[in-house]
Amino acid sequence: MGPDGGKVVAAKVGEGHDRRSMSEKSPPIVAIDGPAASGKSTVARRVASALGVVFVSSGGMYRAFTWWVLEKNVDPAANAAVVELLGATSFDCGDDCGVGTITVDGQMLAPEAISAERVNRNVSIIAAIPEVRSRLVAEQRAYGQSNGLVMEGRDIGSVVFPDTPYKFYIDASPEVREQRRRAEGITDSIAERDKADSSRAASPLVVPEDAVVVDSSDLTVEEVVDSVLAAIAEQRDQV
Ligand code: C5P
Repeated sequence: MGPDGGKVVAAKVGEGHDRRSMSEKSPPIVAIDGPAASGKSTVARRVASALGVVFVSSGGMYRAFTWWVLEKNVDPAANAAVVELLGATSFDCGDDCGVGTITVDGQMLAPEAISAERVNRNVSIIAAIPEVRSRLVAEQRAYGQSNGLVMEGRDIGSVVFPDTPYKFYIDASPEVREQRRRAEGITDSIAERDKADSSRAASPLVVPEDAVVVDSSDLTVEEVVDSVLAAIAEQRDQV
């Protein structure tokens, strides 16, 4: 374990060691997972900007479709109706100044819409539906086809990009996470969401194998970002 409780990736030097500098290598796909309000979004955004790659919040994609379900007055618990709506919905994913965007049936949603309380309350129900996951996972993988990115979520290292060597799991104590949400002035049932996200059958929240685990409870954002960037640089020396 490293000084901040995270796993330290041991340097591997020797035969076949690639001596190209970091900037000469193809841009990395960085997977950052963790529970609600662990700080992973802020960290992912800053890591992406430091690496010069796109930042994508996969949670934003589940939120956007949840907003659409509610907007269409479909009961989130009625799986068949949600799946029917999914089949009739088009998604268009792209990026705007290095930040991933999604339009749902041509509508670009404001951040306030997708972080509204009713979306917080229902997103884990929608995200547990396997058909919703496979459709959005396909969109998420498409982002990684040509360029590097930093994507944060719950199953990015375990399911979306299982082959990337750059996997992180950012955690924080339940008290710290509750406190962070309160400070943001957001009403969010994070304990219920975490329970639902960790216990569902389809792609539950897990610590991916080989992930570097960082407990951010007592760290500043800068400290977490620095430790993630240092681990990426170390790992990049080996691939
Ligand atoms: O990251 P964020 O809190 O915005 O995610 C909202 C919800 O979207 C999560 O609570 C979870 O139910 C779902 N989600 C998911 N898989 C992901 C990202 C988010 O199931 N990769």
